[in-house]
Amino acid sequence: MSPASLDRPLTLALSKGRIFDETLPLLADAGVHVTEDPESSRKLILPTSDPNLQIIIVRASDVPTYVQYGAADFGIAGKDVLYEHAAQHPGGLYQPIDLNIAKCRLCVAVREGFDYEAAVLQGSRLRIATKYVRAAREHFARKGVYVDLIKLYGSMELAPLVGLADAIVDLVSTGNTLKANHLVAVEDIVPISSRLIINQASLKTRAKALQPLIDAFARASAT
Ligand code: ATP
Ligand code: PRP
Repeated sequence: MSPASLDRPLTLALSKGRIFDETLPLLADAGVHVTEDPESSRKLILPTSDPNLQIIIVRASDVPTYVQYGAADFGIAGKDVLYEHAAQHPGGLYQPIDLNIAKCRLCVAVREGFDYEAAVLQGSRLRIATKYVRAAREHFARKGVYVDLIKLYGSMELAPLVGLADAIVDLVSTGNTLKANHLVAVEDIVPISSRLIINQASLKTRAKALQPLIDAFARASAT
């Protein structure tokens, strides 16, 4: 994909919230500080203490797109997002490091009292609501369970409560959201954490500037 313009600072794509918050300590370990908070400043391009590094704030699911097209040299995205992105755009992203941040797991969850095992054994065709269509399709195909997938963009926990779906495939961390909505996790699909992703052209043309940051991220995430 197209290399980033060489006359702008290195550009790191992050999403607001937990990924931005959990990346700050990794940047600090690399000696880089971010003085503005995207929540309060509303800015989408943030300078850093390093004049050669800026941060752009994008939706979590858009991070791979900015990096793949070279609008950002590198970015941080969850394995969940990367897996869905790769279904549409195979190749093109170099993923050197698991940063071990934003850790959670992708699960199947149902309403309390719904006998999921029995439904699976009976061979019932299940309706599954999810944002993670590829991961869900592959999970149920591996199990040999017939499903109708309903794509949602958020608030998946609502779907079984209002009769939109029998089950959801969603991210779970503390389990508080499931509990608050009277849902239970019945299957773990895969553990999730966030990865550093790098534009392949930037890796070649801007290696000298990128490498110290990649090394610092690798060191910080290993501790
Ligand atoms: P978008 O704004 O594109 O819809 P999103 O709302 O999923 O994305 P975030 O909630 O900021 O964005 O999540 C960013 C990433 O953090 C997810 O892709 C996932 O890898 C991870 N994540 C999501 N929920 C949790 C959680 N409860 N605990 C830990 N990590 C999580
Ligand atoms: C994620 C996920 C769950 C929740 C699980 O939502 O979609 O709803 O976290 O976390 P828990 O097990 O610790 O309760 P998030 O907080 O990102 O909200 P959003 O997707 O609506 O932004």
